[in-house]
Amino acid sequence: MEIRKAVIPAGGWGTRFLPATKALPKEMLPLADKPLIQYIVEEAVASGMEQIIIVTSSGKSVIEDHFNRNFELESVLQQKGELELLGEVQRIAALANICFISQQEPLGLGQAILATRELVGDEPFAVFLPDDLFDTEPPLTKQMLEVYRRYKGSVIALWRVAKEDTKRYGIVKAEQAAERVHRILDMVEKPAPEEAPSDLAILGRYILTPEIFEALRGTPLGKGGEIQLTDGLALLLKQQAIYGYELEGTYYDAGKPLGLLKASVALGLRHPRMGADFREYLKKLTRD
Ligand code: G1P
Repeated sequence: MEIRKAVIPAGGWGTRFLPATKALPKEMLPLADKPLIQYIVEEAVASGMEQIIIVTSSGKSVIEDHFNRNFELESVLQQKGELELLGEVQRIAALANICFISQQEPLGLGQAILATRELVGDEPFAVFLPDDLFDTEPPLTKQMLEVYRRYKGSVIALWRVAKEDTKRYGIVKAEQAAERVHRILDMVEKPAPEEAPSDLAILGRYILTPEIFEALRGTPLGKGGEIQLTDGLALLLKQQAIYGYELEGTYYDAGKPLGLLKASVALGLRHPRMGADFREYLKKLTRD
């Protein structure tokens, strides 16, 4: 079955980015000239997604505004003759069929996924965590979809981390199935380094079979008193095989200031309008 639906959980507090995120959702922080969440939606579209479900929470309505038409702004741009910008803001609203649902209870990632059950229905779907940005070609999810088609099971993105960083990620126990493909044997959310089953961390892209919803319904509260997607997947593993895809390329943890700064420099250098000037500026800065 082709995968056409994407879920983007965007309900978190963004505590790692305070004070910037006190009043502004972290998904709206800019990277060069676009908010983070726009990169994620564009990646989903480039991976073949047609319907995008964004799960938000209170105080995040500006995300919805960003993807809606803004007729007042459009007419101002029209009058000023700013046609390139006009095209750009209209393009955002036409990117995909996006719908928004609100996460009623702040019970974590597993709960956010569970909230999309009715909208996703009985079909496999993709999940994109907006904190994690990837610079891969083709887009990471597109590569993972090939693994899904070949192995016919859920697929999660994997990345090797330093031992002291296991406490920030879901960590898997796995055996190699093919080049960069691992068959998952077990997984645990944010283990201490001495308890981590490996150095393979789960990153924020998942292809999930619909059975994950039933598994999440039976998942007790885990780390941080939240329903953890990792725990739901560990339950699903008892019924179905799950695979991991070790990505090749660059990963940015854009949910924290240093990660966003690194991504800003990398993308800024390649930016079609600003790239050349920015490169000159950085050269000068490092010379002085
Ligand atoms: C979430 C998941 C975790 C995963 C991480 C990837 O954690 O719960 O398993 O490794 O995303 O970024 P969060 O970063 O939301 O705390």
